[in-house]
Amino acid sequence: MKVQLGAVPFVYPVPIALGGATVAGKPNYLTLGDVGIMGINPPLVYISSGTNHYTNQGILEHGTYSINFPTRELLAKVDYCGMVSGHDVDKSVLFETFYGELGTAPMIRECPVNLECRVVKEFSIQHRQVFVGEVVQAYVDAAFVTEEDGHVRFAELTELAPILYALDNRYYTLGPVIGRGYHEGKSLLEQNNKQE
Ligand SMILES: Cc1cc2nc3c(=O)[nH]c(=O)nc-3n(C[C@H](O)[C@H](O)[C@H](O)COP(=O)(O)O)c2cc1C
Repeated sequence: MKVQLGAVPFVYPVPIALGGATVAGKPNYLTLGDVGIMGINPPLVYISSGTNHYTNQGILEHGTYSINFPTRELLAKVDYCGMVSGHDVDKSVLFETFYGELGTAPMIRECPVNLECRVVKEFSIQHRQVFVGEVVQAYVDAAFVTEEDGHVRFAELTELAPILYALDNRYYTLGPVIGRGYHEGKSLLEQNNKQE
């Protein structure tokens, strides 16, 4: 038995991010659930942001933006950034900002992972502006990176305590690791190969 929910874009869960841009000479941050990867090589991401959002003005002016992944400790500030607009409130005071090579994509020091992006394509759909960005640099807090035998290793994502969200309007965080990509299907692959 399946129950129909209606035409809902129920992609779940999504990572919650804070998008950053320089607007009128100051950093501004907004909460985003509509964010994702468009490709690994070249490294392309997208954000989809309401046309009237203050952040969009800065992205359009400079052609740059950032995506910052907060930890659960930042939840109240994250939710707040999604409730008030830079049109009315100075959100730059909420975080410590740093800049990378582009100089106009403000990033949040308290977020363990930051992506610095240059806009390579922008289009409008309905009441949204979609900004496709090329990641020019990815920053990770040194505490989450170790080097072993000359290989860079990242902490398990659970340590980064990302905030997840779903269309049930609840925030979640990650559970434990349950497997590895291109690995867990190997038993089925071998079974299939034997049958051939
Ligand atoms: C959990 C959550 C997720 C959100 N996701 C988006 C989103 O993906 N796109 C969007 O345009 N607005 C989203 N918003 C709303 C904006 O963050 C909000 O309208 C914000 O005030 C815009 O800020 P600005 O005007 O300073 O740019 C979200 C808000 C919350 C609380």
